[in-house]
Amino acid sequence: MKIKKAVIPAAGLGTRMLPATKTVPKEMLPLVDKPVIQYIIEEAVASGIEDILIVTNRSKSAMDDYFDYYPELETRLISSGKEELAHVVRSVADMANIFYVRQKETQGLGHAVCRARRFVGDEPFAVLLGDDIMMSEKPVLLQLIEAAEKYSGSVVGVQQVSDKAISSYSSVKMRHIEGRVYEALDLNEKPTFQEKFSNFAVLGRYVLTPEIFDILEHTAPGRNGEIQLTDGLAQLCKISRMLAVDFEGRRYDTGNMKGFLEATVDFALQSPEVGPWLRDFIKRKAENL
Ligand code: UTP
Repeated sequence: MKIKKAVIPAAGLGTRMLPATKTVPKEMLPLVDKPVIQYIIEEAVASGIEDILIVTNRSKSAMDDYFDYYPELETRLISSGKEELAHVVRSVADMANIFYVRQKETQGLGHAVCRARRFVGDEPFAVLLGDDIMMSEKPVLLQLIEAAEKYSGSVVGVQQVSDKAISSYSSVKMRHIEGRVYEALDLNEKPTFQEKFSNFAVLGRYVLTPEIFDILEHTAPGRNGEIQLTDGLAQLCKISRMLAVDFEGRRYDTGNMKGFLEATVDFALQSPEVGPWLRDFIKRKAENL
């Protein structure tokens, strides 16, 4: 079955980026010339997704506005000869069918994913975390979708991280199948060094089957009193096949300042407009450090 629906949980409080995120959603912070969430939607669309549900909260309405038309602005741009810019502004709103649902209380990522139940219905769907950005030749979500279709199962996107870093992620117990594809056998959230299954960490991309909803609705709050998606995934992989794809590409966590700055520099260096200038600027700066 083709995967055409995606869910972007974006209802977190963004406390690691305060005070910037007090009134501006972290997903709306500009990465070079576009907000973070646009990169995620572009990845989803490039992976064949048509319908996208963004899980928001009461302080995130800037996202709905961003993906809407803005006729007054477009008319002004056209009348001042900036047709190309008017087209850019309009095309943002036409990238995909975007829907919204609110998570009324911040009860964790698992709880946020549950808000998507009615939107998803009875088919496999993708999940892309609202602050994880990927730079890759082949869209990372597409790498997961291909594995889901070939091996018929849910999928988590993983990469190896250091011994120190694994305690910030979900660690996955896995068995190699072929190439970059593994079978996921168990997961645990933010393990200590002794508790970790491996150094493979789940990094912001998933393909899930609708069985996850029943599981999450019966999952007790875990770490931090929140309903953890990882706890649900640990159960899902026991009742049906789950793959882990060691995806090709670089992942940036734009929800913390260092990750956000790394992404800003790397994406800016790729930009035809400012890339050559930035390369020069960094070289000159480095000479004087
Ligand atoms: P994070 O762990 O990054 O949490 O959530 P956060 O609240 O957004 O940020 P900090 O830690 O306070 O700085 C991972 C993903 O899950 C979403 C977030 O929006 C992010 O995409 N999330 C988290 C929800 O949608 N709802 C929640 O209740 C928690």
